Amino acid sequence: MIRTFAKDVEEGLSAKNKSLPSRYFYDEAGDRLFVEIMKMPEYYLTDCELEIFNYQTKSLIDSFGMNGEHFRVVELGAGDGLKVIHLLRSLNGCNFTYAPIDISQNALTHLKNRLLSEIPSLDFDGKQGEYFDVLDALGEVEKKVILFLGSNIGNLTDSRAHNFMLKISQSMNVHDKLLIGFDLKKDPDIIELAYDDPHGFTREFNLNLLRRINRELEGDFEVEKFAHVPEYDPNKGIALSYLESLEEQVVEIKAIGKSFEFYRGERIHTEISRKYDLRIINKIAKDTRLRIVKKFYDSRRYFVDVLFEKE
Ligand code: TRP
Repeated sequence: MIRTFAKDVEEGLSAKNKSLPSRYFYDEAGDRLFVEIMKMPEYYLTDCELEIFNYQTKSLIDSFGMNGEHFRVVELGAGDGLKVIHLLRSLNGCNFTYAPIDISQNALTHLKNRLLSEIPSLDFDGKQGEYFDVLDALGEVEKKVILFLGSNIGNLTDSRAHNFMLKISQSMNVHDKLLIGFDLKKDPDIIELAYDDPHGFTREFNLNLLRRINRELEGDFEVEKFAHVPEYDPNKGIALSYLESLEEQVVEIKAIGKSFEFYRGERIHTEISRKYDLRIINKIAKDTRLRIVKKFYDSRRYFVDVLFEKE
């Protein structure tokens, strides 16, 4: 079955517990809002990872263990390249090709222009497609370092994250490395603020999903009748984002040919952002036949980039 925006929206809004897939946040408007989110001090995740890349570059690069041999840096979901650019700059002089994988050709073209304007000598070889098709196609030809940054892994449910890591693990050879950014459990107030900022960018970002349905699927959502509701459960370490209907209402989506009813207070689940601790990370590694080579923390220990290799 081919997934489409219309099908996913229909399925998500027809369910007893309504939800919308978070992959649809990132259209042009959503990309712009997410850049604003990453710039806010409340969204500490980006700053933490940048600090790691800025201050621990040498140790990070040494631990890749490539010893002058040519390798590929394969990034899954590079976005606008904000985070990786520091790493790539420091890798300058190493013998490598930067090979981001993204589902959107448009995102890849933007990324290429941006990176080449800052690092003209970069050997850029972007691949459009689903992560695993591209990873499988890479095969055993070359050593690689796979990057999955920004705690994007936390946006997968635990069982999906497990399957995802297992697949990556299966695509790796003995000398390959995998670097994953994990946002760590910490004072719940700090986490709550990151997902409910006073500037309102996160709210706009969440509501943009409804606006996108209006734009692309001829929906008639009145977005001011929905609230952005973030929730963090410190015991589970899971942050959830919802859109909550502020009144009883019916929304028509013409491209789907259906209307959807909302009761007052009904929620649409839009995002999950898991927060990790070492126990969870160790378990993931064990279950997916990976070994932890090294952990790189920021100075506040809010975030960790973990380097894995095959067991
Ligand atoms: N997926 C990212 C994260 O979990 C992006 C994000 C930040 C986000 N704030 C959000 C997604 C609010 C939905 C709602 O950190």
